[in-house]
Amino acid sequence: MSQGKTVVSGIRPTGKLHLGNYLGAVQNFIQMQHSHNCYFFIADYHSLTTHPNPADLHQSVKQVLAEYLACGLDPEKSTLYIQSDLPQTAELYLLLNMHAYMGELERVSSFKEKARTQPNNINAGLLTYPVLMAADILIHAADLVPVGKDQEQHLEMARTFGNRFNRIYQTNLFPEPQAFNYGKELIKIPGLQGGGKMSKSDGENNVINLIDSPEEIRKKLSRAVTDSGPQVPNSEVSTGVQNLFDLMHLVSQSSTLEHFKQAYADCSIRYGDLKKQLAEDLIIYLSPIREKITAILEDDAYLSKIAQMGKDKAAESADKTITAARSAIGIQRFY
Ligand code: TYM
Repeated sequence: MSQGKTVVSGIRPTGKLHLGNYLGAVQNFIQMQHSHNCYFFIADYHSLTTHPNPADLHQSVKQVLAEYLACGLDPEKSTLYIQSDLPQTAELYLLLNMHAYMGELERVSSFKEKARTQPNNINAGLLTYPVLMAADILIHAADLVPVGKDQEQHLEMARTFGNRFNRIYQTNLFPEPQAFNYGKELIKIPGLQGGGKMSKSDGENNVINLIDSPEEIRKKLSRAVTDSGPQVPNSEVSTGVQNLFDLMHLVSQSSTLEHFKQAYADCSIRYGDLKKQLAEDLIIYLSPIREKITAILEDDAYLSKIAQMGKDKAAESADKTITAARSAIGIQRFY
């Protein structure tokens, strides 16, 4: 049904990939690569809004590429590339910016959130972040974009910018990209610190990285936020504990989750046991990936070869789109 559709998605190189990135995005990438025309990239431009240290950024780009491969992305099946290797994306971003308005950009939730949390660094890149993301998606004329729930509004913006371009320049260059997940809905993986989603912005203890060692996973789980325990049978579950149940649902046997839910309902639960069990199940779940990441990261020649191959493949598709976009706008050589 969706056979042969074009798929685009990316991840910012902000360090190591975590379980939220894996379950919200990468797991879908791996499945989609078998039946779709896929482009998966490392969004290094997007990570510049927070002014990373250049050496860290350089290392993180390699890290994400190694992690993509370790998770099972096959460079023969999907095109894996680095965002800054495609100047066509930057050009499309410039063109789209001419029809992106202050008012709509200022209303984007992620912008408002960043403006609140980093009041000293509300830069123009942050404001136009959704335009760059639209350029990433539209440069390959994507139909589907596998992402977590937190990216839903950005996808809406990508559709707005694509449709607007089509309308103004009377073209049908850009299809309407849809956010995608193999499950019924886009997902949000919870973190360990009792808040909303798993994200590094709430500290390292909030996330389980794919490359975390068993000791790190046990330590993080031991610090996970819970509560003082149920006092009466069938009492309401607090967010922190519900988050642990949700993670257990994803990585443990269903009988294990049932056991702890029952223990919660009859007030016999010991959170220490819940955390230990979840830590062990996470360790088992992630160990095949962890071992592969370490091996791939050591192979610089292999990583370089993949990045070069991806760059060349991605450029073919991006060239077609940017040539058509330029010509629709009236930027054509007359000499
Ligand atoms: P980023 O780097 O924050 O996250 C990468 C992907 O991981 C998903 N994700 C989650 N999913 C579920 N639960 C979580 N706790 C969780 N945390 C992260 C994100 O939804 C995302 O799919 N702007 C994007 C990167 C980007 C992009 C694009 C994505 C740039 N251009 C074009 C798609 C298409 C971002 O910052 O994702």
